[in-house]
Amino acid sequence: MTQVERPSDTYRVAVLASGSGSNFQALLDRFERAAGATVDISLLIASRPGIRAIERAESRNVRAVVLPDELRLPVREARIADEAAFLRSELESAEVDLVVLAGYLRLVPSEVVRTYWGRMINIHPALLPAFGGEGLYGHHVHEAVLESGARVSGVTVHFVDEEYDRGPIIAQWPVPVKRDDDPRSLAARVLEVEHWILPKVVEALAHGWVELGEDGRPRWRRPWFAGERFVLESVGRD
Ligand code: GRF
Repeated sequence: MTQVERPSDTYRVAVLASGSGSNFQALLDRFERAAGATVDISLLIASRPGIRAIERAESRNVRAVVLPDELRLPVREARIADEAAFLRSELESAEVDLVVLAGYLRLVPSEVVRTYWGRMINIHPALLPAFGGEGLYGHHVHEAVLESGARVSGVTVHFVDEEYDRGPIIAQWPVPVKRDDDPRSLAARVLEVEHWILPKVVEALAHGWVELGEDGRPRWRRPWFAGERFVLESVGRD
C-alpha cells in the first residue's frame, strides 16, 4: 500500500460507515489524496466486515479497520468500554481532526462523543428533528416520510451528541417528495444531495468557516452556501 506524505497541517478525517459507503466515496472523490492536500480522508472504520465501504477504502489506499466481532455483541457496560477504547485508539493513532458518521448504524459510546465534541458530525437523510432517532435509518426514514404525507424531505448534517440524530444542526437542504415516490426513489433523490452537501460541510469545517460555538450552536464565519443553486436546478420539478 502506498502511503501518501502528509504535512502536519493537513486536516485528517475518519469516516465511520456500516454499508455501501457512497457518502464516503463522495468525500474520497472531493478530497483526492495527494501530498500537500488540505484535507485527507485518512481512515475508514467499518462496523462490520464485508461492506462495500471497505472496498472503496482499499481501492484508494485508505486504511480500513473493522470493529472486532466481540465488540458487536449485545450491549454490556464492559463491551461499551472496550468499543470506546477501540475507536479512540484508532482515531488517535490516525490523528484525526474530524470524525464523520456516514451511514454508521451504531450509537457511538458517550466517552468517544465527549472526546470529539464539536469534531464529530453525522449525516441524516431527512430534515431533523423530524424523522430521526433510534430505528430511523436507511429506508425506514424514507418510509416514515412517505407515510406522514410530508411534501418536503431533505438532508441534515449535524454535530454528534449522545443521542441518535440529535446534536446541533450545521446544514440542511430540502428535497421535494413527489407524488409517485417510493422509499427507493426518494432515497436516491436525497442521496444525490447528501453527496453534495457532506463534502461542503467537511470543507467548511477544515477551513474553520464553521465551528461549534461555546453556546453549543454552530458559528459561521462565511455565508452559508451563498449562490449555490444545485438542488433547485437539479431536482424537484415534475
Ligand atoms: C445515507 O442516506 C445516510 O444519510 C444515512 O445512511 C445512508 C448511508 O448511505 N445515514 P451510504 O452508505 O453513504 O451509501
